[in-house]
Amino acid sequence: MHDYTNTTALVTGASKGLGEAYARELASRGAHLILVARSADALHALAEEIRSARSVRVDVVATDLSDRRSAQRVVDAVDELGLDVDLLVNNAGLGAVGPFLHRPLEPTLQSVDVNITALVGLVYLLGARMVERGRGGIVNVSSTAAFQPMPYQASYAATKAFVLSFTEALAEEVRGTGVRVMAAHPGATDTGFFDRTTASMNPKSTDAPADVAAKTLDAFARGRYLSFPGRASQRAGVLVPRLLPRSTVARLTGSLNRKLGLQDVSDLDPAREK
Ligand SMILES: NC(=O)c1ccc[n+]([C@@H]2O[C@H](COP(=O)([O-])OP(=O)(O)OC[C@H]3O[C@@H](n4cnc5c(N)ncnc54)[C@H](OP(=O)(O)O)[C@@H]3O)[C@@H](O)[C@H]2O)c1
Repeated sequence: MHDYTNTTALVTGASKGLGEAYARELASRGAHLILVARSADALHALAEEIRSARSVRVDVVATDLSDRRSAQRVVDAVDELGLDVDLLVNNAGLGAVGPFLHRPLEPTLQSVDVNITALVGLVYLLGARMVERGRGGIVNVSSTAAFQPMPYQASYAATKAFVLSFTEALAEEVRGTGVRVMAAHPGATDTGFFDRTTASMNPKSTDAPADVAAKTLDAFARGRYLSFPGRASQRAGVLVPRLLPRSTVARLTGSLNRKLGLQDVSDLDPAREK
């Protein structure tokens, strides 16, 4: 059983949502934290709150992970703090929802940069150090969306399929080095994930971020290579696409997402409409 006490965990996307929940849960298990996201004020407020409640060290690295140089910047900041990262939680991510060809391109590309490029960069730079030390862990937050093509979330689901495939392959590459790599696949979770769009989640079918975070960390502690931290029906849902032709699956998920109105979703923030 992995013990989080007195380890140092770097959590990306820790300013809100699931990342904030990972940070709180890790602190409650005795881990020191490095919190990463763009919103410096939110990160410092969370750091202060955790420090006052728990006997752990909390540092903040505010950076934009859609910048290709950000992974190196994060690692440089960690070095300046004089810390080694024992657990990397690659949680930062953003959705891309709506009809692909009718949305602005820029937010879709940002989603690819954060969900894939930054994640790969951090795994590469911090993972190499972990292997050198002969210990460490990486949790990549993917999604149940990774398991099938999803019309009207086409690019987002594809980024999560990348995370799934990459994580499973890397877990095998590092087997026996003392470093463990796990993918977490939450389903719909009650966060601000859709905040910048006209889409909304059905509260009846979402899980609480705190529960999802706790279950993910339990799974990692038990030595699992993957975790389905949401409700049981979400795990069952990822099995169905394995039994059907891929074109049928795409038609089914397209029809489901049309029923949810995702073909009519648009971005709310005019600054992002490029
Ligand atoms: N909510 C769901 O239903 C659900 C389901 C499955 C998987 N997931 C995955 O869970 C993860 C967390 O999502 P969430 O639901 O918690 O979403 P959220 O509430 O929107 O939080 C996203 C986090 O990512 C950070 N982030 C976004 N763009 C960034 C950038 N350019 N640079 C640095 N940080 C950035 C945000 O911080 P700043 O804005 O401060 O930068 C925030 O902390 C994502 O990988 C998502 O794909 C979510």
